[in-house]
Amino acid sequence: MMRHLSPTGSPIKFSEFAGWLTNIATRRNHTEVLLQLAKGVLGMDAGFLFSTGRGAMTALLAAVKLQNSGNDRDEVIIPAYTCYSVASSVINAGLKIRLCDIDPRTLSCDERQLRQIDFSRVVAIVSANLYGLPNDLPMLEKLAKNEGILLIDDAAQSLNAKIDGRYLGSFGDAGILSLDKGKNVTSIQGGLAVTNHPALAELLSKEVEKLDPLSFKRQLIEFVKVVIYYFFLNPYAYKLPANISFTGLGETRFETDVEVSQYPAFLSSLATAQFNRIDQITQSRTRHGFYYDEALQSNQSITKIDRLAQTEPAYLRYPLLVHDENQRRELLEGFREYGISASYPKSLSSVSEIAGHLVGERRCPAAETVAQQIVTLPTHAYVRETDMNRIIDILAEL
Ligand SMILES: Cc1ncc(COP(=O)(O)O)c(C=O)c1O
Repeated sequence: MMRHLSPTGSPIKFSEFAGWLTNIATRRNHTEVLLQLAKGVLGMDAGFLFSTGRGAMTALLAAVKLQNSGNDRDEVIIPAYTCYSVASSVINAGLKIRLCDIDPRTLSCDERQLRQIDFSRVVAIVSANLYGLPNDLPMLEKLAKNEGILLIDDAAQSLNAKIDGRYLGSFGDAGILSLDKGKNVTSIQGGLAVTNHPALAELLSKEVEKLDPLSFKRQLIEFVKVVIYYFFLNPYAYKLPANISFTGLGETRFETDVEVSQYPAFLSSLATAQFNRIDQITQSRTRHGFYYDEALQSNQSITKIDRLAQTEPAYLRYPLLVHDENQRRELLEGFREYGISASYPKSLSSVSEIAGHLVGERRCPAAETVAQQIVTLPTHAYVRETDMNRIIDILAEL
């Protein structure tokens, strides 16, 4: 195969790239438009931009901590299988992590285990919504309300996914979006925190005023990254970055310190342009997601992840579980050029850097098994029907 598919990256159109360069030359700032678009789509009153999604999550959790400074609540419940950045954000906000194991059939928090948690010191629970698949957010919302805690709806991977017509990121008290590489809307980096909670909005607005801009050098690096992303995401060019190990593409490492800085305004027009065609981007991903879903019905060697009722996934990737780690290794080593990839290599319960920040149950067997067996298939607009058919055949031969 001459082509090499990326696991997740969304293509940036030539017109968007050219428009972005023009906007930089004319020093046009689209941050306000970007915020209005995000708030409009999610139906939120307040929105704040940060240099990264994890920066947004850290600032939001720091605001939650400040709100609770008069009591002894300092724990945040997070699913044991989610992005490591979520754990870094909790730690950087000065809070403790209480893990909840997941239901391997849905990748949502295991409801039975969740209901057994001691909520007396909990301030918030964070959803995961991995790969654009909505968690059971109505259940989490109800539980959070009953327990008097906040729900933070992490839509970093699920922008434009919906439950009963309601957008992800808008459940509970506050939401997070990411504009990082490989997301549905990307400006290489960037994140948003949105909320309808007046007190949180006020605290966040004060925090945002104090943020430092990224240094000129860092902005230059981000500029170069956008240019590389634009030219090298194409399947005929992606082989090069994918085979150069120093790019660190696809690697997941735990980051101890989360930088909370201003979103570089020069990136805003790129994100705005994609936001304006978010439905088109999502449609192409969901078409591919449903194609895999249908074709893999009869495959007995894999386990599909269930889509919850009433949900409209955004399918940032198509996740499934294979039999074991060995089978996965063979698949990844043999067919990487099809964009078949693993995901987070460990559950949060197995990441040593997090251990000292955990409270409550530390064993999360379902999340540990999922970490060993999960495989994701690409759904982005560079994926062709012939690619999907080949991937489906590869999985049939397992
Ligand atoms: C579920 C989830 N939450 C938060 C983040 C953090 O976003 P960012 O990469 O923009 O810092 C990510 C990043 O991929 C994520 O997948």
